[in-house]
Amino acid sequence: MAVPPSLPVVVSGIQPSGTLHLGNYFGALRQHVALADDESRRAEAYYFIVNYHALTSLHDREALERYTFDVALDYLALGFDPEKAHLFVQSDVPQVTELTWIFLCLTPVSRLELGVSYKDKVDQGLPASGGLLTYPVLQAADILIYGEGASGLVVPVGADQRQHIEMTRDTASRFNAAFGPEEDPLFVLPEPLILDEVAVVPGTDGRKMSKSYGNAIGIFEEGAELKRSVMGIVTDSTPLEAPKDPEGSNIVALYKLVAPPEEVRRMEEEHRAGGVGYGEFKKRLFEALRDYFAPMRARREEILARPGYVDEVLADGAARAREIAGPTMERVKRAVGLM
Ligand code: TRP
Repeated sequence: MAVPPSLPVVVSGIQPSGTLHLGNYFGALRQHVALADDESRRAEAYYFIVNYHALTSLHDREALERYTFDVALDYLALGFDPEKAHLFVQSDVPQVTELTWIFLCLTPVSRLELGVSYKDKVDQGLPASGGLLTYPVLQAADILIYGEGASGLVVPVGADQRQHIEMTRDTASRFNAAFGPEEDPLFVLPEPLILDEVAVVPGTDGRKMSKSYGNAIGIFEEGAELKRSVMGIVTDSTPLEAPKDPEGSNIVALYKLVAPPEEVRRMEEEHRAGGVGYGEFKKRLFEALRDYFAPMRARREEILARPGYVDEVLADGAARAREIAGPTMERVKRAVGLM
């Protein structure tokens, strides 16, 4: 039996939504990589691709498989180090769905119906399935199963996940109250680590970058494809000679993410001064994006040239995750009376 970790535990789920875009990178992924690299915050870290969660809205075998693989590949290409944190696929740890059932039996339906993300998705036209309604309970199992015995349980997520973490805490408390054991409650209450707000990345139309809005720029785009995306950024119709507002410019907002500060300053000044057109600014943004992600693109090609590497990383990660999840699930069953 695995010794329960006495280090803090970091847990986060990654949506398999196809190849990643700048919003994913600057919004979450970059912090995931940095967190795993940060020696001062040593922790046991579990990052998993939430394919069961994806199934609540994606019913396409080929797409689900490809998206799952691509996210893993992209994470590795972008610097995620599997020596420092475990990367795996959610469905490779069957104890998570086992635990979900037990949690479901403790969860009031009325509580689930108040879920913001459930209501949003139904408003957007997704069928109100049982999976969609109980999504947060699966997430609670995802988080809590790796926290047993940890000195803290931290969940790095975007601000939109606050309620899900709240529901996870409720679930842990409900379980502990019902089954204890009193002297040593099974589940540790998680804390959200809300990722930087700087990271709301505008898409090409100025709304938040999102695959579903069709305004995303892919991290691994290059050449003509990248050029097309950058040229598609919406600008106002201020003529070339006239001064422009750098604050309201999507080009500047994106440029800030990938260009050196002095180049950003120059672009801002040239906006205010006038005499330089949006076409020129887009050209500079194109070059900055191309250069910023060049090493990651190369790394992605290297990984793709090693057949089986991604699968190996995921298999190792899942094996480690099961070492924790297995014994926890045994304790849960014993506490509940399921032996
Ligand atoms: N619901 C999260 C999202 O949409 C994904 C997720 C699933 C998750 N399980 C998790 C995040 C566990 C953190 C911890 O982004």
